[in-house]
Order: sequence, then C-alpha cells, then structure tokens
Amino acid sequence: AKRIPKVKGFDQTLNVIKEGYEFIPNRTKKFNSNVFEMRVLGGKRAIVISGKEAAELFYDNEKIERQGTLPKRIVKTLFGKGAIHTTTGAKHKDRKSLFMSLMTENNLEYLRKLTRNYWFEDTARLQSKEQVNVFEESTLVLLKVAFRFADVPFDTPERMEQFAKDMNSMVDSFGSIGTVYSGYKKARDARTRVEDYLEKQIKLTRKGKLFPEEGSGLYEFSHWKDMNGKQMDSRLAAIDLMNTIRPLVAINRFISFGVLAMHEFPGERVKVAEDDNSYAYKFVQEIRRYYPFVPFLPGKVKQNFTFDGYKFDKETMVIMDIFGTLHSESLWNNAEQFYPERFENWDGSPFDLIPQGGGDYYTNHRCAGEWMTIIIMEETMKYFAREIQYDVPAQDFTVNRQKLPGQVKSGMIIENIRNNFDRR
Ligand code: HEM
Repeated sequence: AKRIPKVKGFDQTLNVIKEGYEFIPNRTKKFNSNVFEMRVLGGKRAIVISGKEAAELFYDNEKIERQGTLPKRIVKTLFGKGAIHTTTGAKHKDRKSLFMSLMTENNLEYLRKLTRNYWFEDTARLQSKEQVNVFEESTLVLLKVAFRFADVPFDTPERMEQFAKDMNSMVDSFGSIGTVYSGYKKARDARTRVEDYLEKQIKLTRKGKLFPEEGSGLYEFSHWKDMNGKQMDSRLAAIDLMNTIRPLVAINRFISFGVLAMHEFPGERVKVAEDDNSYAYKFVQEIRRYYPFVPFLPGKVKQNFTFDGYKFDKETMVIMDIFGTLHSESLWNNAEQFYPERFENWDGSPFDLIPQGGGDYYTNHRCAGEWMTIIIMEETMKYFAREIQYDVPAQDFTVNRQKLPGQVKSGMIIENIRNNFDRR
C-alpha cells in the first residue's frame, strides 16, 4: 500500500479552529492528494478524505461507522444527548423513518406556504425599521415557521426572542469544537431552555391536553412508537423534535448569504425574481455549494479496507471534507465562481453536492431537512427579490473562511425597505 501524506505535529485541533474552512483545502492542495493524515483531538490519528469518491466511501455503512465519533461537547450543545445523529444501524433506520415521514409532498407544500406567509406578514415590521439585519431578522421569522410547522404553540414574544437567540448559540457552539468553555456553557443553557419547553408540549400532547395536527412534528414525535413498540422518552422526543427546529432556524445563514449574493453578483436578483421557480432553485443550490457552513464530518473505519491504494485500519478516525469537496475544481468548473447555471445540467448525484451530507436519506445520516431547506430558501429568496425593495448601505460584507461557522460579518444589513406591491 502507498504511504499516506502526513501533516507534521502532535495535534492539529487548534490549527483547524484557526484556519477554519481552509484548513483541509490548504493541505489537500499542498500534498496534491485527496487523502492525508494528521493528529487531532488530543493526538488521535485521523485520515482526511476529500471528493466524490471519498463521499461514496464515507457513506458506505459497511466500511465507515459514524456512531461515537462526534466530540462529546458538540453532541451536548448542538444535537442533544441520544439525538438521531448519534444512533446507528437498525435503531438509526427506525428513527430516521420518523423524520422522513414528515416530508410528504403535502407537508412540504405547507412549509412553502408558511415561509411565504411569514415573510409577507413580516414586511410591516421590516418597513418600520430604519435598518434590518437580515441574519437576525430571519432568525425570528424562521423560528415562527419552524414552530408552526411542528405545530408547537408560540410562547410569549419575549420568550420567542430568547429561543431565537438560543438557536444561534447552539449552532455557534460548533465553531470552537467544544474547546472554549464560555461558548459551551452558553449553548448548554440555551439547549436546556428550549428542551424544557418542548418536553412540556410533548407531555401535554400525550396527556390529551394539547392537540397538534396529525403530520406535524409535535404530533408525530409525541405519538411515534419505535420498532420495539415503545414511545420515546419525553426528553429524547423533545431533543429530536428540536432537531427539526434548530437546523431550520440555522437556514438564517444561507438567507444572509443569499441576500449578499443578490447584492454582490449583478443580475442575480433580477433572475431570482423571475416567475417560474427554475432559476430560484439553481440559485439556492449554488448558495448551498458556494458559501461556508458545514466544514467536515467525522467517522471511523468499521473494518479494514483499501481506498485509492491506501490502507485504512479498523477504528481509525476518518474525516470527510465537505467544504473542500464543494469547492473542488475537478468536480465544479471554476469552483470559486458563483454560477447558478452550473446546476442546469447537474445529474443530481448524492455524492458531490453535499452541504448537508451525502448518500441516502433513509439509511445514511444525510440531512433529513434538505428538501425543507431548499423550499424555505426558494421562497425566501423570491421574497427578497420580488416582494420588497431595499437599499444596501456600506458595511463589512466579508465572509471569513477562517472562522467557523460561516457568516456575513455584518449580518447583512438592508435599509429603506419598501413594499414592492403596486396598490394603485
Ligand atoms: C443531518 C446540515 C437543515 C434536520 C445533517 C447533517 C448535515 C446537515 C451536515 C449530517 C450529515 C451526516 O452526518 O452525514 C444541514 C444544514 C442545514 C440543515 C447545513 C441548513 C441550514 C436541516 C433542517 C432540518 C434538518 C431544516 C429539519 C428537519 C436534520 C436531521 C439530521 C440532519 C434530523 C440527522 C439525520 C441523521 O442522523 O440521519 N444536516 N441541515 N436539517 N439534519 Fe440537517
């Protein structure tokens, strides 16, 4: 077998945090290799893999195990204890079917309507403000969409504002990979607050004191029985119900990237405003490819195998390069150019456009909410392109690729917002 190119040094964790999305691409370029090894998380040996063939390998359940590979602190803040992300095998497949059962055509159409309506209703609020921070504003709008989609009752406006902030604290926590205690503590508190609230709604539903609609998250997670005929523990049900809400709110990042793209790349806004959805779809796919969100995903070798002439030994940590794969010149022509038309002839491969993971929805850990994300983004981008007019003041538009998680530095500020509806 060939020798795997190796990053020198005892532990790269701090360099990963320091270089962010560029850490892996810098090294695949330097070694001119889609496979390299390094030490991380206290000196553990890890093999990094990048590209489409790598993704095919990573999502082969016979070769790669995902369970037990996420850092403990990230589980505790981002996903929650016992979350679907941490399960494997039959148990994972069983519970994944619960998540996927929410993704009926009707339910997704309902989500589309909710998104459109909540933004439409928000116009008055946007008009009333001198300046709007798109990232912050979307947080609250998306929280309402997420709660209503799950049919979770809204709390007081003040508590909804708090929950919105809480969602961001949880997502922010992956930026330090759990190494910074203050961020960890903040995210833990945020999680406890929202888990408590959701668990209460689940208990009320089970007692017959609250009647969410069939097909909604609250209904389905409250009443679902697993393969052993058992209801989920109410805390666990709250944790996994939140795994449909927090990531939905995290779409605020893609929204601010989208509004940035419509500003930075001339012509995009006009094309997104077109009547039929086909350009909005391509635009959204390009947003998900181009802008930095998920940097990489961890797994480990389940049984010995050889890949690309390299030996992978059982138990070795494997890190799948997400951001680098989305920016690979061999997969995407002029990868550093923002070019939605590239999706005109895309073959829909489950292994190249992987901002939300790859492989199969039902048997792999691929994001359960990918279709939801695309729908919410399409409707939101059309709203900004069509339903309102606004000005974009000078601000710091930087999207720093050395900082996890990715964000527009300013949050994306717009001002002088007008209703674009001709009422004469
Ligand atoms: C899993 C990203 C939105 C629910 C994942 C994974 C990624 C991801 C990278 C893990 C893939 C893997 O481990 O192989 C994102 C991004 C989103 C987003 C970037 C947009 C902001 C959503 C939404 C939902 C959702 C809207 C709502 C249902 C989930 C669930 C899983 C998951 C339940 C766990 C799936 C499993 O373990 O089988 N997501 N996601 N995500 N996502 Fe998303």
